[in-house]
Amino acid sequence: MATTLKNNNSRKHNHHPFSLIIINLWLLSSSSLVGADADDQHLHPTSKHIIQTHYHTLQINSLFPASVCSTNTTPSTGSSKRQSTLEVFHRHGPCSQLGQDTDATITTPSVSEVLSHDQSRVDSIQAQVKSDSSKVKIKNTNSNPNKLKDKKANLPVQSGRSLGSGNYIVTVGLGTPTKTLSLIFDTGSDLTWTQCEPCARSCYQQQDPIFNPSASASYSNISCNSPQCSQLSGATGNKPGCSSTTCVYGIQYGDQSFSVGFFSKDKLTITATEVFPNFLFGCGQNNQGLFGNTAGLLGLGRNSLSIISQTAPKYGKYFSYCLPSTSSSTGHLTLGKSGVSRNVKFTPFASSQGTSFYFIDILSISVGGRQLPISQSVFTTAGSIIDSGTVITRLPPAAYSTMSAEFRKQMVKYKTAPAYSILDTCYDLSGLTTITIPTISFTFGGSVKVDLAPSGILLAVSTSRVCLAFAGNNNADDVAIFGNTQQKTLEVVYDVGRGNLGFGPAGCK
Ligand SMILES: *[C@@H]1O[C@H](CO)[C@@H](O)[C@H](O)[C@H]1NC(C)=O
Repeated sequence: MATTLKNNNSRKHNHHPFSLIIINLWLLSSSSLVGADADDQHLHPTSKHIIQTHYHTLQINSLFPASVCSTNTTPSTGSSKRQSTLEVFHRHGPCSQLGQDTDATITTPSVSEVLSHDQSRVDSIQAQVKSDSSKVKIKNTNSNPNKLKDKKANLPVQSGRSLGSGNYIVTVGLGTPTKTLSLIFDTGSDLTWTQCEPCARSCYQQQDPIFNPSASASYSNISCNSPQCSQLSGATGNKPGCSSTTCVYGIQYGDQSFSVGFFSKDKLTITATEVFPNFLFGCGQNNQGLFGNTAGLLGLGRNSLSIISQTAPKYGKYFSYCLPSTSSSTGHLTLGKSGVSRNVKFTPFASSQGTSFYFIDILSISVGGRQLPISQSVFTTAGSIIDSGTVITRLPPAAYSTMSAEFRKQMVKYKTAPAYSILDTCYDLSGLTTITIPTISFTFGGSVKVDLAPSGILLAVSTSRVCLAFAGNNNADDVAIFGNTQQKTLEVVYDVGRGNLGFGPAGCK
C-alpha cells in the first residue's frame, strides 16, 4: 500500500515542479515569440443459432474496420430527437478527417504502439488514484506520522495524466464567429483546452486551423485573482501561474505530452441550439505530445471546470455516449437527458476518492454464461473506474487469470497464437471466416448485468493474431479500469447528478 505522507503531497510535489518549469520556460520565451516548431457486424444471439444465448457467432472481418466510413443513425435511441448530440469517431480510421493530408505512417500508430501508450495511461491513472486515495487516508492517520514516513519509498514513479492513444474525437465550435475544433474526448480529465495563436512557444500540427483568440469577438482572458483561476489546481493537479494579470494553466499527461497557456473563456457551440457563452477553457500557447492532429481535449471528468460541471445548470450533469464497434463507423456524445432509452440499467457510482475519475463497483464476471469463481474481495480491494481513454480493460490479477483460463477452455477448438504486447490469450484464426466465441458479461453494483459486444471481447491485430481484449494489473490493489474496447456499441449514460452510471445495449453500431 502506498499510503505515505509523501504520497499525500506527491500530486503537488510531483506535478508542480515539472509544470512550473514549463510555465516558466514559456513565460521567459513568450515575449520573444520563439518560433513554434510544428511539430461487427456482430450478430447478436438472435441470429440463426439455436442454443446460442451464451455464444456469439461472428464473421472475422467484422473485427476489422471497413475501408469506408458508414455513419450511424440509430432510431432505436432516438438520437435524431436529441438537440445536444455530437458525432463521435475514432481518431484513426476512415471516419476521421484527421491526418488525411499527412503521412499516414506518422499519424496512425500500430496496434503495439496503441497498447504501449495504453499502458502508460493506465500507469498514470493508477498513480493518481493511489496518491489521491492516500490523501484521504492521511487525514485519518496523521496521528502516526512515523509510520507514514517509513513508507515513503513506495512513491508511485509515474504521475501526471496520460493520454493513451485509443482516443475518440468530437467536433465542437468555439468563439465568434464560430471556429470548428476536433477534440479528444476524455472522461478521465477535467480541463478542456485547444491550441491557440500565436502559439507563443510551440504548437503541434493539427488539422483544423489553430484557434485565434484575437479574431474572436467573444473571447476574454481570466484574471489571476478570479475564483475560476484557483479552480485550476483541482482540474489540472497544478497551481495556476500568472502572466501580467492573466491566469496561466499547465497540464501534463505523462509521455511528455503537455499544454500550457492562458486560462480563458469564450462561446462554446455544441450544436446550433446548444450554446454556452462563457465556457472556461485553456488557450494553449505551448503544446506538445501525442495529440495527433486533434485541436486539443474535451474534459468530461467529474470535477469543477469539466464541460459536465460547466453545463450543469442546463444538463444537470447528465451525458451519454456510444463508442462505435470499429473506426469505420461513428457513435455519439450527448449532453443532457433527452433520448436516453428505457433499456438502460443504472448502477450507482462508487466514491470518486477525490479524483476526476468515475468509480463503479464490479461484482462479478461471466464467460459463456458461467460466473467466474472470483471472490468479491478481489474487486473491492482494487476498486474500479470506467474510462473513455483506456483501450483495454484492466482487471485485478486474480480476476484476469480466472477469466483467461475459462475463455481458453471455451475456445479450445481454435488454434492458439503467441501473446501480443499486454494481451496473452490469442488465437490464430487465419483461414476461417466465422467463429463462435463465448459471451462475456459484467455484473455491476445493484446487480446490473451488461453483455459485451463481440467487438468488446476480441481485439484483432491480424487474422492470425486475435486476442482476448483484457489484461491483468500487476498488483492486487491497482484500480481496475473498464476500458473503451469493452464499452463499444453500448449506450453508456452518466447521471452524475444522481450518482448513477447506466448501460444499455446497441447504442450504435
Ligand atoms: C490575454 O492575456 C495575454 C497575456 O497577458 C495577452 O498577451 C493577451 O493580449 C490577452 N488577450 C486579451 C484578449 O485580453
